[in-house]
Amino acid sequence: MTSYESFLSRDAQSFRPSAIRAFAKLINDPNIISFAGGVPNPETFPAAAVAELAERIIRTRPQIALQYGPTRGIPRLCDSIAAICRARGIDATADDVLTTTGSQQALDLIAHALLDPGDVVAVELPTYIGGSASFFARSAELAGVAQDDEGIVPESLRALASRRRIKLLYTIPNFQNPSGRLMTQARRDAVLALAEEFDFLVIEDDPYGELRYVADADTTAMKSRDAHGRVLYLGSFSKVLAPGLRCGWIVAPRTLLATLEIAKQAADLCSGMLDQSVVDEFVASGALAPQIERVRAFYRGKRGVLLDALQTHFGGRATWTPADGGLFTFMTLGDDVDTAARVADAVANGVAYIPGGPFFVDGSGRNTMRLTFAKESDERLREGVARLAKVFGLH
Ligand SMILES: Cc1ncc(COP(=O)(O)O)c(C=O)c1O
Repeated sequence: MTSYESFLSRDAQSFRPSAIRAFAKLINDPNIISFAGGVPNPETFPAAAVAELAERIIRTRPQIALQYGPTRGIPRLCDSIAAICRARGIDATADDVLTTTGSQQALDLIAHALLDPGDVVAVELPTYIGGSASFFARSAELAGVAQDDEGIVPESLRALASRRRIKLLYTIPNFQNPSGRLMTQARRDAVLALAEEFDFLVIEDDPYGELRYVADADTTAMKSRDAHGRVLYLGSFSKVLAPGLRCGWIVAPRTLLATLEIAKQAADLCSGMLDQSVVDEFVASGALAPQIERVRAFYRGKRGVLLDALQTHFGGRATWTPADGGLFTFMTLGDDVDTAARVADAVANGVAYIPGGPFFVDGSGRNTMRLTFAKESDERLREGVARLAKVFGLH
């Protein structure tokens, strides 16, 4: 048999399989109440509207929807995306937009275009595993930056930047995956000032900003105050529409965008034209705003049920983030608890969660877990927290 080891590229030797993929299997067993998912609830998908649009588009415009298209994306969709960005405070036109095959591709393209092996990428503690995977896949070195309830701790970022030459900072300021946290605007300004002082670029990943459940959450993009062109802003339709319509985007300084466009040509020529056409029509018809309202209402209720149940069963014995938006709350238990070691026990008791450790690039976070309220009914959310409390010996 041929041994393929010697054929693998240097980057391939740095690939890291997702440490949480294994847990994803647990979410499909109906006997297990799952807080483990990381995906939107299919009930939020506007399936009938998408079906109708897709049929109409294929019948009336096959020469566009079934053909190759511009690497930048369908021009009207780029216009709509620029308008969405302007509503988030970002000064953008269609010329500032590169559509991508989900924001995951944006992360990969940026990593490909900007990172050499050994370059340092600063990431939040904890951070999104798909982001880390993109940076590891280019043989980068990941360095953790502390977060508290206001977001990135500037002193931690300053200490790292003083010690190491950081090339990129990866941040998810709005309702972060996995922590659910919202970074304050003051902290965003402090991060931008450090980017200028220490000469690094910032990836601002914002798939959750529209999923707001409280009135006073200020989700204004960091990019809106990017006076020196340091921020590459990523958006996505995955969480407000449907992730199967692989449609995300990058807004970045134009010279960088031109380089990223060439990286995308090499990656896939263009994002799926049928997906883009459906999203384009959906947004152009004015359906996005009411859709976002529906999605918010759907998750707002579930989020309340989960937080109430946590208060009932874990109050005074654990802390968790308020999840004022997004899909997750992040719970921290006593210092001596190892959540990864309890997964099997939890599953045996009919409940699943994601241990927090894999989200921390510095090996910390053993006593944390990520809980999503997206999947289960209100009743099962309550029952699931009761089971969780039993597993952790709180009854
Ligand atoms: C923070 C973050 N960034 C990016 C993505 C990828 O999303 P997309 O479907 O747009 O590729 C996700 C998906 O869960 C995410 O949580």
